[in-house]
Amino acid sequence: MNLLHICASTKPIDISSSKQLAAAFFARLAESNKDINVTNMDLYNNPPPFLTNDAYRYFWNPILQPGYIPTTAEKSAASYALSQTKVFEETDVLILTMPLWNCGMPAIMKAWLDQVLVPGVVFKYEAGSIIPLHHITKVILLASSGDIVKENDPQDQLTPHLTAIFNSISITDFSIAWADGQDPRHLDAEERKATAIEAAQELADDVSEMA
Ligand SMILES: Cc1cc2nc3c(=O)[nH]c(=O)nc-3n(C[C@H](O)[C@H](O)[C@H](O)COP(=O)(O)O)c2cc1C
Repeated sequence: MNLLHICASTKPIDISSSKQLAAAFFARLAESNKDINVTNMDLYNNPPPFLTNDAYRYFWNPILQPGYIPTTAEKSAASYALSQTKVFEETDVLILTMPLWNCGMPAIMKAWLDQVLVPGVVFKYEAGSIIPLHHITKVILLASSGDIVKENDPQDQLTPHLTAIFNSISITDFSIAWADGQDPRHLDAEERKATAIEAAQELADDVSEMA
């Protein structure tokens, strides 16, 4: 089984709650001794470019304009998204690690999603419908927030956004471990993190059972 882990926290692990959830998740997974391969991408080490109009044209013009031939600039602008195609093709479970920033995902994660969620990379577009090219069956969100945020509170625009994105490419199994209340003004921040770590470990057990 192949896992793709995309991480979008700026902080080193000793002070990043979301990275600590990820560490607990992958440590528990390793204990299962199952045949699981993990591809790790830390977006801050290898930042995706913002999608440009040239890249947009490269991916969408074949649908919008029959006979379209991309320019050299358009091909070049598509190279980042195309470089993600193979890993997507091989992925069974996608793990997203990130903090809550301004009620949603960090811009660098959105930049990555804008790059990869294009025709020819994770889906094809046929007769007005999106047909998945991936075979991802599960997405896991390992998140952290400063405030005490309940899922689907108005302050949580992250889970509705991700759910809508993944539903649109036929992924409906979306699980979450969330360390909320991580701002030091919350005196129970460590307990909240410990509870989220347990949730992340249970998600790892679920993934082990799939392998
Ligand atoms: C730019 C920025 C925006 C933030 N916005 C929110 C927010 O909307 N809601 C919240 O609860 N915490 C917010 N925080 C706090 C982080 O979510 C919190 O510190 C989190 O634990 C960081 O996770 P990490 O340590 O894994 O990077 C924000 C932090 C930053 C730097």
